[in-house]
Amino acid sequence: MSDKIQCCTTNGEIPLGQAYWDSQYQSHTTGWDLGVVSPPIKNYVETIENKQLAILIPGCGNTYEAEFLLQQGFTNVTVIDIAPTLVAVLQEKFKNNSSIHIVLGDFFEHQGKYDIIIEQTFFCALPPTLRQRYVSKMHRLLKTDGLLVGLLFNRTFEKSPPFGGSKAEYEQLFAKAFTFLKLENCLQSASPRANSELWIEFKKNKDVIVNLYTMEGITSVDHMTKQLSAIPDVVHISINSDFSELLLVSTKEMDTQNIQHIITTPKK
Ligand SMILES: C[S@@+](CC[C@H](N)C(=O)[O-])C[C@H]1O[C@@H](n2cnc3c(N)ncnc32)[C@H](O)[C@@H]1O
Repeated sequence: MSDKIQCCTTNGEIPLGQAYWDSQYQSHTTGWDLGVVSPPIKNYVETIENKQLAILIPGCGNTYEAEFLLQQGFTNVTVIDIAPTLVAVLQEKFKNNSSIHIVLGDFFEHQGKYDIIIEQTFFCALPPTLRQRYVSKMHRLLKTDGLLVGLLFNRTFEKSPPFGGSKAEYEQLFAKAFTFLKLENCLQSASPRANSELWIEFKKNKDVIVNLYTMEGITSVDHMTKQLSAIPDVVHISINSDFSELLLVSTKEMDTQNIQHIITTPKK
């Protein structure tokens, strides 16, 4: 695999929080930065007619995508990143532009409602334990019929971040919470990422409720899964990789106490 695709250096034990990401910008260790708008995202943006749509780019980095949106006349662009060094540069760069809102913060704390959220090497930068939380947050941040569009890796990596994934994993992870309008091999990827990305267009499923639950003291995942799946209104469940969080998709509001009880009650 090409070294160019390597995102950043970590021994796997460094928490991937604000200090980590900020140090990458301070030391210019930004191997993920394409230096130009990602070609598939550029092509997609060119198809959007309504320039007033509210668009979010999380984990925006140097955000050539937002710059392209502004060039195309979009008037309601929000970008968020956790790295203060980067965000200070962006705030200076776009200081006279009222069409872009630049937020320093954690995506998972962000509040808002968007028509489109653009994914570009943000998902792969997060520890995989946060994947269920990512789905829940995306669902919450999108308006009715809102779209999550962009790129996800369809490969693994020896050193992470970036953290890889596969089409099969994404089908499971986003199931029922989103309708897959597109989940296909990307043919226009930037050359260092050729044949390793999937193009996604996921539409928020407005007919479901998506909730994230903390799991503590779980003794039998199988038992819990069976019990939750037996609830008539539950259409999908997904458990994160360290068994600390549960994503539950249902057609009706769930009784949180009952769900929490099932999660924490040991198998008899
Ligand atoms: C691999 S970089 C990608 C940057 C940009 N999307 C690009 O393609 O050039 C991941 C970015 O996500 C940001 N990030 C990581 N965790 C975040 C979080 N919880 N909330 C907001 N931004 C975060 C990092 O600071 C970094 O800029």
